[in-house]
Amino acid sequence: MDGLNHVAFIMDGNGRWAKAKGMPRINGHKAGARAMEQIVPYAFTKGATVLSFYAFSTENWSRPKDEVNGIIKLLFWLLDKNLSYLHENQIRLLVTGDLSCLSKVRREKVLNAINATKDYKKTVNILFNYGGKSDIMHAVHGLIDSGIKRPTEADFENYLYNNLPPVDLLIRTSGEMRLSNFMLWQCAYAELYFTKTYWPDFGKEDYDKALEEFYGRNRRFGAITNPK
Ligand code: IPE
Ligand code: IPE
Ligand code: MG
Repeated sequence: MDGLNHVAFIMDGNGRWAKAKGMPRINGHKAGARAMEQIVPYAFTKGATVLSFYAFSTENWSRPKDEVNGIIKLLFWLLDKNLSYLHENQIRLLVTGDLSCLSKVRREKVLNAINATKDYKKTVNILFNYGGKSDIMHAVHGLIDSGIKRPTEADFENYLYNNLPPVDLLIRTSGEMRLSNFMLWQCAYAELYFTKTYWPDFGKEDYDKALEEFYGRNRRFGAITNPK
């Protein structure tokens, strides 16, 4: 729809948000989870059909164990809390990343939710234990195993963790201006939007600002706008 199909979020700044309030980092992650719950319905009403959220990167394992466990627990709490919401609103859940780090019980819980919602059209995609490089290597290994000798881009995309449409708009909060190993293939032509707002404070008005900026951009995809 009008060029805005896939919006991705690098939800950054939870820790600094908590610190600024004199609270433990995990409170920032909890507030971040609430911000995510609020932005999902709003972003769908504003036209996107795929929403991707960077929840836990392959690099985030280097954080203290308590924080890592806290984030994972929080993600499962979110899933339990919102599974009926996904059904009621016909939203498909995808989880993109290496799920082999999860216990069997947790992995099955995720896979069941993915399977139960697979026919819905709108998509919430959670990037968990995800890295753009790991995604690309997953595709490389899959292609080698498949025996395809000269893969096309379309073949390659079939072997990524999930075959997602290209990211149109990538929003990163908290003032950091980097990709941090996020969807390297899928962001090849994404419009990048950075805001200083910490993720837990990111709301509808911030999203509107990002959209305004997006619609003001000239997406040329390498072509020229006024040939003559
Ligand atoms: C983003 O917030 C959430 C995750 C990486 C899981 P951070 O936890 O990175 O917050 P800051 O960047 O330390 O403020
Ligand atoms: C990126 O944020 C990962 C997620 C939002 C899940 P980080 O806070 O981990 O990234 P860096 O360390 O600032 O690059
Ligand atoms: Mg961060």
